[in-house]
Amino acid sequence: MKVNGTPYRTVWMEGSVVRMIDQRWLPHRFTIVDLDTVEATATAIRDMWVRGAGAIGATAGYAMAQATLLGSGEGWRDQVAAAAEQIRATRPTAQNLFFAVERVVAVIDRSADLKAAQAAASAEAQAIADEDAHACEQIGEAGAPLIADGARVLTHCNAGWLAFVDWGSALSPVYKAARAGRRVSVVADETRPRGQGAMLTAWELAGEGIGHAVIADNAAALLMERGEIDLVIVGSDRIAANGDVANKIGTLEKAICARHFNIPFYVAAPTSTIDWACPTGGEIPIEERDPDEVLTTWGTDAAGEIVRVRTANPTSTARNPAFDVTPAALIGGIITERGVVKPGELARVRR
Ligand code: MRU
Repeated sequence: MKVNGTPYRTVWMEGSVVRMIDQRWLPHRFTIVDLDTVEATATAIRDMWVRGAGAIGATAGYAMAQATLLGSGEGWRDQVAAAAEQIRATRPTAQNLFFAVERVVAVIDRSADLKAAQAAASAEAQAIADEDAHACEQIGEAGAPLIADGARVLTHCNAGWLAFVDWGSALSPVYKAARAGRRVSVVADETRPRGQGAMLTAWELAGEGIGHAVIADNAAALLMERGEIDLVIVGSDRIAANGDVANKIGTLEKAICARHFNIPFYVAAPTSTIDWACPTGGEIPIEERDPDEVLTTWGTDAAGEIVRVRTANPTSTARNPAFDVTPAALIGGIITERGVVKPGELARVRR
């Protein structure tokens, strides 16, 4: 997608350097950050300089390629194995991270020597990124027919192009419908504590010229009750084989509300987000993040500097589960690059 007229992907690789849009500073500042080492790339994933399942996965793939390109000497296979462990430990929920690491590790394992591993790992990491971008565009094509002219779409967190390599999952059908000439507007949940909806989704939609409003997370039920939401589309960080869906904390609540008000609730995700080895949502690991994320918030001060301020009572602590699981029974359909399927029929998109 374009930023000020220039096409960007969220993450890419030049030589042994991983380059990415630094999401820490959006929407206030658009910057590209260079990550010269596997440690730096791991930090970028763990500390959410890059966010969203697909973007995290592509970064993880590039990190593994980076590990081979920076590898040296007799011990290069141990160095690569240590890098894989380091990347796997960054964030537990996003399936695409594990999907990407295992794919690149597999081609490295089949390589005869370091030089062959470097070439194979670089090609595989690039293929993962390209496939992600392509799948997300296909998700847009598969999902756009669900969006009627004049539709008002509720979304939660950021599952737009910043959360993938390009196009996005939940927002891709919105972009495709808008480009096809349909009037579409988006209601973006703010998505506390990290504010992905208010900061990232809103920034993306503004860039694409899509009408939108940010709402407090607890305002969605009222808008649904008033008939101001026509459908809900959210992304996913991991989908279990039975169609249960892990997504940003607060998604479950939206799904329950949507069912109550009889509003269609869709999940959009590439098949790389499906964890076929995970039978139900109960087995999906749910990340617990630093309570300080709940007790504070980020913004700009009067001078335009980005600052973090404490909002909660100074002596209080917090709980910060980052994801929840929406049961398959509450989901009307899963929009994948291979079409829209009922959660109970996920096997139809398995290759
Ligand atoms: O914790 P984050 O910012 O990496 O959150 C992930 C997400 O962006 C969302 O949960 C999203 O809705 C699904 S992943 C595209």
